Amino acid sequence: MSTLTAWAYLATTVLFILGVMRLRSPATARSGNFLLAAGMLVALVVTFVDDGINPWPVMTAAVVLGGVAGTVSARLVRMTAMPQMVALFNGMGGGAAALVSAGETIPRWFGGSVAPNDAAAAVALFTVAIGSISFAGSLIAFLKLQEWMETRPITYRGQHWVNAVLLAVIVGVGVYLIAAGSGGGPWFLVFLGASVLLALSVVVSIGGADMPVVISLLNALTGLAAAATGFLLANNVLIIAGALVGASGTILTQLMSRAMNRPLSNVLFGAFGQIQAGAGPATVTGTVQTADVEDVAMLLAYARRVIAVPGYGLAVARAQQEVRQLMEKLEARGVDFRFAIHPVAGRMPGHMNVLLAEANVPYDKLYEMEAINPEFPNTDVALVIGANDVTNPAARNEPNSPLYGMPILNVDQAARIIVLKRSMNPGFAGIDNPLYTNPKTSMLFGDAKESLTKLIRALDEV
Ligand code: TAP
Repeated sequence: MSTLTAWAYLATTVLFILGVMRLRSPATARSGNFLLAAGMLVALVVTFVDDGINPWPVMTAAVVLGGVAGTVSARLVRMTAMPQMVALFNGMGGGAAALVSAGETIPRWFGGSVAPNDAAAAVALFTVAIGSISFAGSLIAFLKLQEWMETRPITYRGQHWVNAVLLAVIVGVGVYLIAAGSGGGPWFLVFLGASVLLALSVVVSIGGADMPVVISLLNALTGLAAAATGFLLANNVLIIAGALVGASGTILTQLMSRAMNRPLSNVLFGAFGQIQAGAGPATVTGTVQTADVEDVAMLLAYARRVIAVPGYGLAVARAQQEVRQLMEKLEARGVDFRFAIHPVAGRMPGHMNVLLAEANVPYDKLYEMEAINPEFPNTDVALVIGANDVTNPAARNEPNSPLYGMPILNVDQAARIIVLKRSMNPGFAGIDNPLYTNPKTSMLFGDAKESLTKLIRALDEV
């Protein structure tokens, strides 16, 4: 590696670290993304001019193809489809790491040469396994999130045993390939096939709505695979970038599991959301009160403090602009209007923050769960917009509930609760929400965007 390349890689590393640090807050995330892209550009350019790297026509074609695909999909993707796009891109990273490592060691498996040496071959096998698991798992995650395949967990008798056997095959064949020294091409293909099958078998048994956690875990694996490829190619920037992705993916996976109060093992092997034989549709017992738009407008207009609780339904309805307009209307009347953001509201980390930022809602209006929960008892109206599980008091009060223990937004402590949703259907967890039969709660049924538009109009008449 030339001195120029070494310095350029150092600059890339600094840009990556600063970029990741700035992703911590919505206020700095945009510039963080910019720094990360700049770091990637430096790495790409120096890789082109580095005299040891060839062939440039193939590399140019790859950069143009990747650049065009990335730009077009980033521009076209809808906010609600972001998780599946992340899944697809993550899968490409894992697949690329696996291909590069496989390519580096092909002579050993198929050419009969012992080069590369045992240590390099072991690293390559590790990368091929992890990278292809990430690739295949991410594709299934993509198909489930896109609803192109059954989103509920697909399970069968003995599935855990099948997974255990596949894992044993991967480890056993891997050890054999190293011990054999050279050759063993067909066994390498068995190794590859078992890795892909293991990913398919594990990920199909996970429900579509758990996919963000799975994607984050697969993202950590992709990082690990990239770092291992960096060792194989003696490329420092790949090692560092891979380690950053691996570490952030691991932290994010832990944060999400904790926010749902479910151990990772439950997400991976619990088949959460599976159809139970004989289970009927969810029902709520008790009286449900409905409200009309005029009543709700009146309530909001004369409130001192309103806390809006956005959830997945806000994203589905694409009602972020309307909720900002409602906020401005009420603030003009002197209402103290805030947003309560639950860490797993929506379907991906930071879903609500990104959505509201897109509609230019100021960051200082967004309060995290710990900060806003003590405020609910002093709040006149909690306005729940397309959120369900993250407001379910059963998580606090009912030890038998699947949600029990998950920290929630204490909307039931507000003086009045207004819920905007289309029906009595449950949310992601598939369970009833006793909030809807609370005497303080009124339901305003309808699509969130339409209901908010009507509310904004009705406020002019109050
Ligand atoms: P959910 O509990 O899924 O509830 C969303 C509600 O939005 C539904 O009850 C639905 O009711 C309503 N809705 C859908 N479309 C709507 C529309 N067009 N207009 C109005 N309402 C609409 O969402 P949540 O409260 O945001 O909770 C998130 C859930 O996802 C949690 O259980 C969480 O554990 C899980 N999860 C989140 C993540 C991350 S990282 N965010 C990752 C994995 C899992 P109707 O059909 O009646 O309208």
